[in-house]
Amino acid sequence: MAQTWTPNSWRQKPIQQVPDYPDLAVLESVESRLAKYPPLVFAGEARRLKQALANVSEGRGFLLQGGDCAESFAEHGADTIRDFFRAFLQMAVVLTFGAQQPVVKVGRIAGQFAKPRSSSVEKQGEVTLPSYRGDIINGIEFTEEARVPNPERQIMAYRQSAATLNLLRAFAMGGYANLENVHQWMLGFVKDSPQAERYRKLADRISETMDFMKAIGITAENHPSLRETDFFTSHEALLLGYEQALTRVDSTSGDWYATSGHMIWIGDRTRQPDHAHVEYCRGIKNPLGLKCGPSLTADGLLELIDLLNPANEPGRLTLICRFGHEKVAEHLPRLIRAVEREGKKVVWSCDPMHGNTITLNNYKTRPFERILSEVESFFQIHRAEGTHPGGIHIEMTGNDVTECTGGARALSGDDLADRYHTHCDPRLNADQALELAFLLAERMKGGRDEKRMVVNG
Ligand code: PEP
Ligand code: CO
Repeated sequence: MAQTWTPNSWRQKPIQQVPDYPDLAVLESVESRLAKYPPLVFAGEARRLKQALANVSEGRGFLLQGGDCAESFAEHGADTIRDFFRAFLQMAVVLTFGAQQPVVKVGRIAGQFAKPRSSSVEKQGEVTLPSYRGDIINGIEFTEEARVPNPERQIMAYRQSAATLNLLRAFAMGGYANLENVHQWMLGFVKDSPQAERYRKLADRISETMDFMKAIGITAENHPSLRETDFFTSHEALLLGYEQALTRVDSTSGDWYATSGHMIWIGDRTRQPDHAHVEYCRGIKNPLGLKCGPSLTADGLLELIDLLNPANEPGRLTLICRFGHEKVAEHLPRLIRAVEREGKKVVWSCDPMHGNTITLNNYKTRPFERILSEVESFFQIHRAEGTHPGGIHIEMTGNDVTECTGGARALSGDDLADRYHTHCDPRLNADQALELAFLLAERMKGGRDEKRMVVNG
């Protein structure tokens, strides 16, 4: 029997990845201020996302989830958000064409600030300091002062999330996402990239289709779905005091919702079934993500599914698999078989980033070909098992950074130093993200042709 859940019942459980706040009274005062602030997202929106994900879990849609590894206070600005949104829309349009299915768009944005760390300390030369845990907790500068966890940063993170969301809502609903703008979404630097010609051709086909639809009376004016898009936010629910402060009862349903983002996920380091993060997440009604790494056993996964989705509600749970390109074939099939055997309804998503991180010239990086290889294996394995490869989860930016090697511009280890800006893990730049979308779209198209051949004998 599960025990009674409350927004603070997680406080009775063991917990990992907790910052060492020097003054708990200040922390409490920040949390009680946050508890009075308006919600960032609404329960009805989270339910709409859950419904979209339910369709994905039944094979009718594809989830595109992506954004920064860690958002930063320093990089907060309209241009960064616009460039991200534009790159994301480009990917979505390419994928929609490839999958011929709706693409559910979920950003790692407007709340993705807290980072789990493998070590609680960082050593540089003779100096050892507490690790950087994300801008919501401490500063990235390698000084004693910056690394002290400061609760006031939670207020900054809340305000930045609100401002980011405000702009994203305007972009999604206010005309920017209008499909008639598909040509204008060309980014400055993608314009000269190896992907440019491919994208232009696709945009031409979309414009042609729009012209045809206009001729028969279907226009962006009379069909909101052509001029608006649903865009949702997500982040790792790591800093539970912050999450609790933004947990609210939905007056329509009487249920509890996290209002810090539409979807939240549990990281690979904090998914112990009897610990605090699982306890918090089981009680809120938002769609949830669960990171699945190589150490997760089939029984362990089934136990977590029962805790997080006891009613087996489709759309509630997305399994974000992050094994690494060499390990995916060993781990994914056993998890798929267990889930299928028990008839559990989940969305299967592939995070090809977190299992493929290496160090090159003292930089953490990810080779594009390994990222692609994990995604390809993910698709092949699902085809072989007869299940739906439902989505991808990536770390990306709309900017021209040099953090992951490879891609059509063949970034090398020597290029990393040029524009390595991430606050945490290396991200795909807009060019590499678009290339991944094109390659994926081809695979999806291949899968559809294969299915047709089977159906037609
Ligand atoms: C992340 O998504 O940034 C992350 C830390 O992932 P994981 O929990 O899978 O390591
Ligand atoms: Co990361």
